[in-house]
Amino acid sequence: IRVVVLYGGRSGEHEVSLKSAASVLRHLDRARFEVIPVSIDKTGRWQWNDLGTIDQAQAAALPILPEAPEMRLARGPDGRGVLIPISASATAPLEIDVVFPVIHGPLCEDGTMQGLLELADVAYVGSGVLGSAVSMDKDVAKRLAEFAGVPVAPYRVLTRKAFVRDRASSLAQAIEGLSLPVFVKPCNMGSSVGIHKVKTRDALDAALDDAFRYDVKVLVEQGIDAREIEVAVLDGEPLFASLASELNPNAHHEFYSYEAKYLDPDGARVDLPARLDAAQMERVRALAVQVFAALECSDLARVDFFLDRRTGEFCFNEINTLPGFTSISMYPKMMEASGVPYGELLTRLVHLALD
Ligand code: DAL
Ligand code: MG
Repeated sequence: IRVVVLYGGRSGEHEVSLKSAASVLRHLDRARFEVIPVSIDKTGRWQWNDLGTIDQAQAAALPILPEAPEMRLARGPDGRGVLIPISASATAPLEIDVVFPVIHGPLCEDGTMQGLLELADVAYVGSGVLGSAVSMDKDVAKRLAEFAGVPVAPYRVLTRKAFVRDRASSLAQAIEGLSLPVFVKPCNMGSSVGIHKVKTRDALDAALDDAFRYDVKVLVEQGIDAREIEVAVLDGEPLFASLASELNPNAHHEFYSYEAKYLDPDGARVDLPARLDAAQMERVRALAVQVFAALECSDLARVDFFLDRRTGEFCFNEINTLPGFTSISMYPKMMEASGVPYGELLTRLVHLALD
């Protein structure tokens, strides 16, 4: 079975993908799968990479090699997806069995890539167009979760258009009915890129300015005194929810930021399993499955919750349909702790894509 591992991507999480894909390449069963690493650079160029070269270069992150032959994905003559060389240095078209998109964020995880893969008639790991799109949009995801009966924390939505037109009234609207601190988040982003914890009214303006660099829609969420709890979900009959984990960002990080996640080796302490009582553990696993189903996801997702210290209730925070697979990432760790080792997890995901 020929598996194309897509990595890089045109998103703010490009670097995270390089790390995720390095881990995936290390754990994919090479006896079972023929692995083809295909990179997408920041301008959107797809390049076929020689596995030997990648293996040699591989450290914590996969490289983007400017001289690798450029390819494009298309539907082949027999209706099977193929990679077609578009630079002179390339070899013949390459038929594909499965694409494993190890890429995160907009244009990767939000249904656009999934649409391209559908058009090319290629099987792929992960949610389809709809599940990917509604999951990536934090506002739509929360609305659907809430509709399914899963609690969410209060939040407001601002558009860039309204913000540019009338800053003062947008600022007032942003925190209407909320109390400080609030979190300002680009609606379609991941890895906490563009997220700000805002503790004073004065800081709101700059936070919104920055968040609008990443998206035309921004969320302002009520900051709650909460524990951060995550659950990994794997497709099957029935859906499988892992043991939950808890992330405790180190005191010098205000929240589980990009820095705390990927740049600071002591950014957070992980409790796996999370220190929950049996009823709480059961509740959060059930909620994760409920969210996965409500958002019409497939194959895999990591569902993130807040456990409100005041009320003891879980609130849905967000879902990641192509969660991080880096060496510190929680999805594979939670699966491993729940009886599905990394290599076997990848094998199961490839087979889920082919089913
Ligand atoms: N968006 C990052 C990759 C995650 O959820 O792990
Ligand atoms: Mg995310």
